[in-house]
Amino acid sequence: MTKRLYIKTYGCQMNVYDSARMTELMAPIGYVPTPTAAGADLVILNTCHIREKAAEKVYSELGAIRRLKQAKEKSGERMVVAVAGCVAQAEGAEIMARAPIVDIVFGPQAYHRLPEMVARATRAGGGVLDTSFPAEPKFDYLPERADSAAVSAFLTIQEGCDKFCTFCVVPYTRGAEFSRPAAEILAEARRLVAAGAREITLLGQNVNAYHGAALPGREGPGGEWGLGRLIRALADMPGVARIRYTTSHPRDVDDELVAAHRDVAALMPFLHLPVQSGSDRVLAAMNRRHSTDDYRRTVARLREARPDLALSSDFIVGFPGESDSDFQATIALVREVGFAQAFSFKYSPRPGTPAAADGRQVPDMVKDERLAELQALLRQQQREFNRASVGRLLPVLFEKPGRHPGQLVGRSPHLQSVHANAADTCIGAIMPVRIDSAEGNSLAGTIAADGAGAA
Ligand code: 5AD
Ligand code: SF4
Repeated sequence: MTKRLYIKTYGCQMNVYDSARMTELMAPIGYVPTPTAAGADLVILNTCHIREKAAEKVYSELGAIRRLKQAKEKSGERMVVAVAGCVAQAEGAEIMARAPIVDIVFGPQAYHRLPEMVARATRAGGGVLDTSFPAEPKFDYLPERADSAAVSAFLTIQEGCDKFCTFCVVPYTRGAEFSRPAAEILAEARRLVAAGAREITLLGQNVNAYHGAALPGREGPGGEWGLGRLIRALADMPGVARIRYTTSHPRDVDDELVAAHRDVAALMPFLHLPVQSGSDRVLAAMNRRHSTDDYRRTVARLREARPDLALSSDFIVGFPGESDSDFQATIALVREVGFAQAFSFKYSPRPGTPAAADGRQVPDMVKDERLAELQALLRQQQREFNRASVGRLLPVLFEKPGRHPGQLVGRSPHLQSVHANAADTCIGAIMPVRIDSAEGNSLAGTIAADGAGAA
């Protein structure tokens, strides 16, 4: 008998990956994905704890799900409700106290035990809590990937973080840094390619801290591979057309990774490299372990290796103690480096992190003003970057149908979304597209007849 599974995913791409794996995990026991929570037998909220707003969204969603669960119960059926991810890890049993409709709470390191937890919750009707960091790595217990994959697929290679930036919950919710062995990653990549993936985005909270066991027989000194070595091995795999990785830390950009940007054509010239602030004082208080000069030098090394590299970053405004001149240093750094795209946030105190206890919190109004100023500049840079693409021929990997009939959407090497009229058979193909216009976040173009000029 089939059962309906609804998963709602919040937050980062790691959660998107985890949700896909949970879907695969539940398939053999009869759960098929459904697009809405109404009528579902199992509802999973895969949550994010990075900022207060993200965490609060979960509770408002649970309010709506409560009504759906009650409606289903009236017709004599059960709806099992689970909260997964980082809110689950951070708040644990508190979630069940605040939202009694929740049957299961489990953290990011426990989801391979989902079938067992669902069975227990269904049998007992009581709450099931698993926020442990089990000794057995969950990847060993996950089934092999399903037989159809997105054109652009995510692959988690590393989890957790040992950096302990003073604003961040990740080291607490995702735990200590852990890298998967290279052999396991390459096997998963091979299956993704066989299932139709052309682009692979390697994921990790601190992805360039990657140091997994080397491929047997190809060990170098130390027996481990870094990210640069892993990227080279992946690029050698037939069918892998494009490689990306995210999110990286400026401290962990080593020479091998820079060299990969120089030598590996499949490694796309776009890098999300968060700097967070342009003030050395603030970076020190954030425990970022890099200065603005370190960042400048790293960007220079990367651009020397790959001159067309475009950058993206995360920024936090209103970190405790951030003065006007600290903030202006951020504005100056943005002007100097130039970003193709970026995310910026108001500092949000997270329970249990050192910065939350700092007495020098910045008033919300000041944060609002700074965020508006920074975002205006970042938007302007993004617009300029996109406008510079107009008239150029870009190789676009088409991923899915667009909003209008006959239209497809794909990505340029710089991760810009590109719309063009093309047949559905072009999904999964890289085609040369002449860019006609740039609007907001996306580009529109026409497939070039002769294909000349695009690689
Ligand atoms: N407040 C605001 N932004 C945060 N981020 C992480 N923690 C916080 C916080 N407490 C941002 C950082 C990080 C991104 C994923 O979220 O910029 O790079
Ligand atoms: Fe959080 Fe990234 Fe800092 Fe790790 S490196 S603590 S994930 S912001």
